[in-house]
Amino acid sequence: MTLRIEPRNATLGADIYGVNLNKGVSDADFQEIWRAWLEHAVLVFPEQHLTEEAQVAFSRRFGRLERMTLKSTKEIIDLSNVGRDGRVVDAASAQALFLEGNAIWHADSTFRTYMPKAGFLVARQCPATGGETEFSDTRAAYDMLSPDRKALLEGLEAVHDYVWAQSLIGGMEFIHPDARKEMYPVTQSVVQVHPDTGRKHMVIGRYASHIVGWSVEEGRALLRELEEFTVQPPRVIAHAWKPGDAVLWDNRCVLHRGRPFSLAEARVMRRTTIADDHPENVWAL
Ligand code: SIN
Repeated sequence: MTLRIEPRNATLGADIYGVNLNKGVSDADFQEIWRAWLEHAVLVFPEQHLTEEAQVAFSRRFGRLERMTLKSTKEIIDLSNVGRDGRVVDAASAQALFLEGNAIWHADSTFRTYMPKAGFLVARQCPATGGETEFSDTRAAYDMLSPDRKALLEGLEAVHDYVWAQSLIGGMEFIHPDARKEMYPVTQSVVQVHPDTGRKHMVIGRYASHIVGWSVEEGRALLRELEEFTVQPPRVIAHAWKPGDAVLWDNRCVLHRGRPFSLAEARVMRRTTIADDHPENVWAL
C-alpha cells in the first residue's frame, strides 16, 4: 500500500488513503502523516475500523494522552449518546446536555494550562443523516485579519473556563466529581505561535469566557467577532462520518463542532486526546 494524501479544497483538511492503522504505521509513513497533519491540520482516515488498542497506539505516536481526572488512567473518552442500558439517552439527560457542548465551536481542553496538541476521533455508530463534524482553521483566519485587528490582539489574553461554558447548557452532573473539583479558569494568549510550524493561530472557542482587562461584554463581543470570521469558507470543512472513520486534528489551530442529528438515533464516538508535551503537564498520561 502506498500512502496517498488528498488535500480538501479549503485552507485545511486532507483525506488519507493507503494506510492501515490497525496494522501499525511504518516510521516512513508516520513521518509523512506527521508532516501532513502539521500542513493540513485535519486528517481524515476513512473506514479504518480501529480497535481501541490500535487507536491508543496510533495516538501515542504523537505524544502522551490527556486524562479527564488526575486519578484516571483511562486513555479513551466515550462521546456517546447511548446509556449504560444500551439505549439512546433522553435529550434532557445530563449525558445529552454534556454532549451538546461539543456542538458549539471549540478546541478541546483550552480550559487547561497546557491545552492538548491533537484530538483523534473514531466513529463506532453513526446516525443515518446529520452528526457530521466541522473543523475550522484559526491559522488561516489569523493570516486574513486586518493589520489593525492583528495589532489589537497582540498581547491579549482570554480566560477559558469549562464550568462557565458548560453552565450555559447544563449537564455538569455527568462530569465525574473529581473532574469537577479539578477544573478552574486559566488564561490563554489569544494569538499563539505554533511550536512545530512557527505559524500564528488563535486560541478561541466556547470555553473563552472574556478578555483579561476588558469589560466582559466587550471581551465577549471581540471573541464572537473572531470566531464568526474564523468559521467562514474557505476555512471550514465538514466530515460526514461512516462507522470506522477516524479523524485526527491539530487542536492548537483548529476549532471543531458536531452537527445536529436525530436524537432518537445512536451516535457513538471514541476520542483520544494527545496532550501537550510540557514536562509539568499533569494531565498527560
Ligand atoms: C468533540 O468535540 O471532540 C467531538 C465532536 C463531535 O462529536 O463531532
